[in-house]
Amino acid sequence: ATTLEDALEALQAGEPVLVHDAADREGETDLIYPAGAVTPDAVARMRNDAGGLVCVALSDEVASAFDLPFYEEAVDHPAAGGHELGYDDRASFSLTVNHRDTYTGITDADRSLTITALAEAATAPEETDFADEFRVPGHVHLLRAAPDLLAQREGHTELGLALAAAADLPPAVVVCEMLDDETGGELTPADARAYADRHDLVYLEGSEIGGRLD
Ligand code: 5RP
Ligand code: ZN
Ligand code: CA
Ligand code: ZN
Repeated sequence: ATTLEDALEALQAGEPVLVHDAADREGETDLIYPAGAVTPDAVARMRNDAGGLVCVALSDEVASAFDLPFYEEAVDHPAAGGHELGYDDRASFSLTVNHRDTYTGITDADRSLTITALAEAATAPEETDFADEFRVPGHVHLLRAAPDLLAQREGHTELGLALAAAADLPPAVVVCEMLDDETGGELTPADARAYADRHDLVYLEGSEIGGRLD
């Protein structure tokens, strides 16, 4: 099987995959799970082994159904907007949320609950009253994907959702950047690959996804 096929199989089995976007973009590797497969242990792995921001990426269609704006459009503050990212036209950040049944929202159990509830909501958006189930602000960052995914943007947001679509999974994935505990910087592709090998996980380059799924 190709690496891409291995990745789709892993995701279908609820396992995470590692995805490096591109050396000329962020140059980061995210640990990516199907949101529906997340457990408290998976959240612990993301904060301990990955160390970045735990975010749930939703398709544009699902985000529209829930009326989820981009963060900078939702906030009336001079600091919102006018960003010049070094690596893309815009960030994909939407709101931050907690499931209403969480307490503080940050514990592994709480974030896992928020994330799995988001996955369930994404499978049946029309049957979900978003505000009835989730509150803002919270401890899980939502990301809103470009409508045509990789044809429009090649971030981890779109890479993760393109993988989910190819794996016939709901349009909700969790992404978290792999950081290096020694340097504090991004984990290098070589180290991310080594982590994947040690843990029997699939490592993919963004170009391996875009090239095959478009
Ligand atoms: C949120 C981020 C990450 O880079 C995440 O991978 C989503 O962003 P993008 O789609 O731009 O790669 O900044 O922690
Ligand atoms: Zn990032
Ligand atoms: Ca760590
Ligand atoms: Zn990213």
